[in-house]
Amino acid sequence: MVSTVNNAASGSKVEKHAFSDRVTIRTILNRPDGGAGLAGQRVRVGGWVKTGREQGKGSFAFLEVNDGSCPANLQVIVDASVADLGQLVPTGTCVSVEGLLKNPPEGTKQKIELRVEKVIDVGTVDPAKYPIPKTKLTLEFLRDRIHFRPRTNTISAVARIRNALAYATHTFFQENGFLYIHTPIITTSDCEGAGEMFQVTTLISEAEKIEKELIKNPPPTEADVEAAKLVVKEKGEAVAKLKSEKASKEAISSSVAELTKAKENLAKVEERSKLKPGIPQKDGKIDYLQDFFARQAFLTVSGQLQVETYACAVSNVYTFGPTFRAENSHTSRHLAEFWMVEPEIAFADLKDDMNCAEAYVKFLCQWLLDKCLDDMEFMAKNYDKSCIDRLRMVASTAFERISYTEAVDLLLEAVKEGKKFENNVEWGIDLASEHERYLTEVKFQKPVIVYNYPKGIKAFYMRVNDDLKTVAAMDVLVPKVGELIGGSQREERYDVIKSRIEEMGLPLEPYEWYLDLRRFGTVKHCGFGLGFERMILFATGIDNIRDVIPFPRYPGRADL
Ligand code: 4AD
Ligand code: MG
Repeated sequence: MVSTVNNAASGSKVEKHAFSDRVTIRTILNRPDGGAGLAGQRVRVGGWVKTGREQGKGSFAFLEVNDGSCPANLQVIVDASVADLGQLVPTGTCVSVEGLLKNPPEGTKQKIELRVEKVIDVGTVDPAKYPIPKTKLTLEFLRDRIHFRPRTNTISAVARIRNALAYATHTFFQENGFLYIHTPIITTSDCEGAGEMFQVTTLISEAEKIEKELIKNPPPTEADVEAAKLVVKEKGEAVAKLKSEKASKEAISSSVAELTKAKENLAKVEERSKLKPGIPQKDGKIDYLQDFFARQAFLTVSGQLQVETYACAVSNVYTFGPTFRAENSHTSRHLAEFWMVEPEIAFADLKDDMNCAEAYVKFLCQWLLDKCLDDMEFMAKNYDKSCIDRLRMVASTAFERISYTEAVDLLLEAVKEGKKFENNVEWGIDLASEHERYLTEVKFQKPVIVYNYPKGIKAFYMRVNDDLKTVAAMDVLVPKVGELIGGSQREERYDVIKSRIEEMGLPLEPYEWYLDLRRFGTVKHCGFGLGFERMILFATGIDNIRDVIPFPRYPGRADL
């Protein structure tokens, strides 16, 4: 929590961070007066030097310090009598300093600056070795220095925008009476039925462990097993002999103890003799009974199926978590690990679904305008000059809604008028990104919801329409990104969904529990998934999805 003094009267006492001995830079600068009214107050601040320069023949230094609480830097002035200036000025140095806030001379950009009286701590940087120098760095360059990129203006602004959108998401759904459900990350059902799942298994690491162990400690041979058996036999005979000779109790029990030991040893030898290198097999296939979960398991591609169990019990729910897709996509819109927001609404149909999606996206846009304008201004200046106008437009304009058939007709019309697409347009195709972007960026110049897609290109759980050719699906397309949301009314009729699963060649067994939701107390319901990173791309105008998630995962890359 950060205590703010946003609307504080000029001169009011600036508050420390709740859990630190310092004042955040946001608390100082993010006031209507830009901090001017805080002159005269003694504060401690901490942050990293963005730029530093010695002045007045080395008698003092200017430091631009940023602590990530806002895009702006605080100007900090240190006299040579207070500290070794050479140590403070390199970009990336961490400083914790205390001093007096002062109004700078008239005519300077800053409204307030800090005159340092005491340097508390310094985290030094060797400028010759620091991986992110002061020069303008490309986002590609930063992707190779993932642990340092939050220190840049762009990545820290993205982090604040991302945080704001997460907060907005919870606010929107909580205010509308949705329960947040934590769906599993490890799953045994393929939601999209597309077979793009990462497998979760310990079979490989176990096999490697066994291989190593067997090299260090070779397994017992058959002769070793026979020898151990022989010992058991001998010890058994010895016990029998003592018993028949009516030997003393002590003699018998000590002989029995030896027999027990021999049996335990045999069990161990036999067990180890069964150890085989490689992945366990049964009937020529991998034996998943020996895997961690005693069955095949995967990372989830979507929390939808699981969250439906809650929608079919507590009616309005959402899940918001990481999802994983092992598609070998190298595009600027795909990640192997991305976050998805998935509401699920009971007693609701496709129209309700579209209304919810539209209201949610508008809410997110308005939230950024209200809470993140400084970061959005940074984005407008550096990445996409129209990004703020786009947020305003989306927050205030009704989304276009067209059926898939109408969308195809519009695309065909465009082709007739000379528009060239790389992918052929005809009824039945899955709209390509270029088609989606044409509709939203050129044709309508606003978000477009396309609904009622051909059933052949959509997932098994979508409700079949009365025409039997299309399903009650909807995608929300937005400028810059194309598909932002995919959703549908769910097939609630048992017979229909069962035959859809079969039709698609999916096995019924893993979906039995899902079918149960239709067998018992079925309900009309719908939901959608919003790609969280795509929303950030749309908001900021940044081009590559790898730059809007803290730790991007894509083919060939999973740093940290
Ligand atoms: O359209 P999708 O595949 O829909 C589902 O997963 C449904 N189960 C959602 C639901 O109805 N609950 O994915 C939803 C959204 C897409 O519209 C897109 O924004 C995003 O997730 N998305 C990706 N984002 C980044 N990288 C990828 N590889 C993505 N795949 C989908
Ligand atoms: Mg989709």
